[in-house]
Amino acid sequence: MQVPGVRRTVRRILLSVFLVSLVAGVGGFYLLLQDRALRQAAAEARILLTSALAIRGYTAENIFPKLSRLPAGEFHEETVPSFAAQTVFRTVARSYHAYTYREPALNPTAPADRATPFEVELIQRFRADRGLEELSGVRAAEADRLFYLARPIRITKEGCLACHSTPERAPPAMVARYGPTAGFGWQLDEVVGAQVLTVPVTEAMKGSLELVGILGLGLALVFAAAYLALALSLDGMVVRPLQALARAAAAASHGGDLRQPLPRAGAGELRALAEAIERLRTSLGKAMAELRAEEAGPRSPARRAAAPGQPIPAEPAE
Ligand code: HEC
Repeated sequence: MQVPGVRRTVRRILLSVFLVSLVAGVGGFYLLLQDRALRQAAAEARILLTSALAIRGYTAENIFPKLSRLPAGEFHEETVPSFAAQTVFRTVARSYHAYTYREPALNPTAPADRATPFEVELIQRFRADRGLEELSGVRAAEADRLFYLARPIRITKEGCLACHSTPERAPPAMVARYGPTAGFGWQLDEVVGAQVLTVPVTEAMKGSLELVGILGLGLALVFAAAYLALALSLDGMVVRPLQALARAAAAASHGGDLRQPLPRAGAGELRALAEAIERLRTSLGKAMAELRAEEAGPRSPARRAAAPGQPIPAEPAE
C-alpha cells in the first residue's frame, strides 16, 4: 500500500474540513434564516389579525346598534362584523399582494365565504379539538409561499343566532338578499368557520436562499484561497526540500554518492535536518576514505593521521 504524501494528506484534510463546514454552516444558516422569516411573518400576521378583530368589534359595538334602528325591511351588510372586516382587508390586499383575510365557513351566508378545501381542513381540525386555539404554517399557493394563521370562529353569543339560526328569525331583508338556505342552522358553541390570515413569505424565503448561496460561495472562496496558499507554501517550504533531502540521503546510502546538492531553503526544521545530513555525509566520507586507505595498504600512523577527526589511540604502554 502506498502511503499518501504531504500534499495529498493536506488536500484530504482541507477538503473534509471544507465539506463539513460547508454543510454545517450553510445548513445551520439556512435554518436560522428560515426560522427568522417565519417568526417575522407570524408577528406581522398577529398584528393584522388584531386589526381584523378590531374592525369586527367596531362594527358590532359602534355600527350595528345605530343602523339596527333603521326601519324594518332594510338590511345593510355594513352592520355585519364579518362583512366589515373582510371588505377592509380586500382593500389592503389590493395594495399588498398575497396579504389576505378571510372568514370562511362550512355553511356560509355569502357564497364568497365558502371554505376552500384547505380551509375546510383547518375548520375540521378546530371542530375536532376544542382546545385548539390557533393553527399556523407555510403552504404553497401557485407561485407564492404563504404563511397562514388561523383561529376558530365559535358561536359564543346568542345574538349571532338572530341571523344565523333559522330564516324565520333572521331579518327578512337579509333572507331576501342571501337566500333562505345559506348560513343557517348554526348552533351555540359550535365552530362554524375560521379566521384565516395569510402573509406572503416568498420573498423572505428567496432572500434567505440568496444569503445562503452567498455564504456558500464565500466559504468556497476562503477555502480555495487557503488551499492555494497552503499548497504553495508547503511545496516551497516542505515538499521540495524534503524530496531533495530524500534524494541526497538515498544517493549517499545506496551508491556512496555524496555530491547530491542539499536544500538550502525550507522550514527551519528541514534546514536543521539538512545540516545534520551534511554532517552525517562528512563523517561517512571520512569513514569511506579511511576504508579505502586500509584496503590499499597496511595500517600506518601516517595514514591514520591523514584521516582527521578519528581519535588516535594512545600507544600502548611498554
Ligand atoms: C344582522 C345579522 C347578523 C348577525 C347578528 C351576525 N351575522 Fe354573521 N353574517 C351575516 C351576514 C349577512 C353575513 C354575510 C356577510 C357577507 O356578505 O360577507 C355574515 C357572515 C358571517 C360569517 C362569514 C361566513 C359567512 O357565513 O358568510 C361568519 C363567520 C359570521 N357571520 C359569524 C357571525 C358571528 C360569530 C356572529 C355573532 C357574533 C354573527 N355572525 C352575527 C349576518 C349576521
